[in-house]
Amino acid sequence: MTGQVEGMRVVMTGAAHGIGRATALLFAREGARLVLADLDEDGGDATAAEIRDAGGEATFVRTDVGEPAEMSALFGAVRAELGGLDSIVNIAGVLRVVDLVDTSDDDWALMFRVNVTAQMLACRLGVPMLREAGGGTIVNMASVTGVIGVPGAVAYSASKGAVIAMTKALAREEGANGIRANAVCPGWVDTGFNDPIVTVMGGRESHAALVAAAVPMGRQASAEEIAPTILFLASDASSYLTAQAIVIDGGNN
Ligand SMILES: NC(=O)c1ccc[n+]([C@@H]2O[C@H](COP(=O)([O-])OP(=O)(O)OC[C@H]3O[C@@H](n4cnc5c(N)ncnc54)[C@H](O)[C@@H]3O)[C@@H](O)[C@H]2O)c1
Repeated sequence: MTGQVEGMRVVMTGAAHGIGRATALLFAREGARLVLADLDEDGGDATAAEIRDAGGEATFVRTDVGEPAEMSALFGAVRAELGGLDSIVNIAGVLRVVDLVDTSDDDWALMFRVNVTAQMLACRLGVPMLREAGGGTIVNMASVTGVIGVPGAVAYSASKGAVIAMTKALAREEGANGIRANAVCPGWVDTGFNDPIVTVMGGRESHAALVAAAVPMGRQASAEEIAPTILFLASDASSYLTAQAIVIDGGNN
């Protein structure tokens, strides 16, 4: 390991599973000091414990990222645990696979609350702390669906498109304060997130066949293949890179 984010104070959401878990483990190995958040208490505790067992620093705070009061408490914990903040990494997200005409008010509200409002709340609470630190980085989880728009996932695509626009606008607003903000836009990543799609497609085999046909690289990414781009965007290695949406999809789009 190269200590790419040595001593960096980071708050990261969605750390219990999938991409968030892989990213938290990578950041810890690279020297970050972490406050982790997720709705799933057991999963979040397990990620933090794994980091501490390996000699790293991580505290888990069970948080519903879409709830303003819980996000305020999370950022209070960040101040108490880390004494300040250098990077915000928003990874938590939700997906409902449903055509627009069948999308309920509840589907729409859930995807915007967890995928968009939560990231706005983290930035609204965290940016003053980044300014205090003299600058910092923000990495927001979008999706290639927010770039191209995907049928059967109109609300989800719209929520991820909003993340990209919010990230670019915020990057331009805060650039003079030394704050960089970028979005990552993965394609197919092999996590439990896509289980509803796998079911709709008739199981893992037919899903894998569809991915193999559609993606030039012939397969999904692993969560561990997304984490290094997030690390790069959070670190000084990307010091002149801001207001971008980086697509990581095996050449699919
Ligand atoms: N898997 C993919 O193919 C893929 C592709 C593009 C983008 N993404 C995005 O990557 C992110 C992570 O997805 P993943 O594939 O790791 O899925 P995942 O299901 O493994 O992880 C999502 C995490 O978010 C947490 N979460 C959900 N609602 C929450 C809430 N209200 N408050 C706090 N935490 C909450 C879950 O508990 C879980 O730990 C999501 O934002 C997703 O939209 C995933």
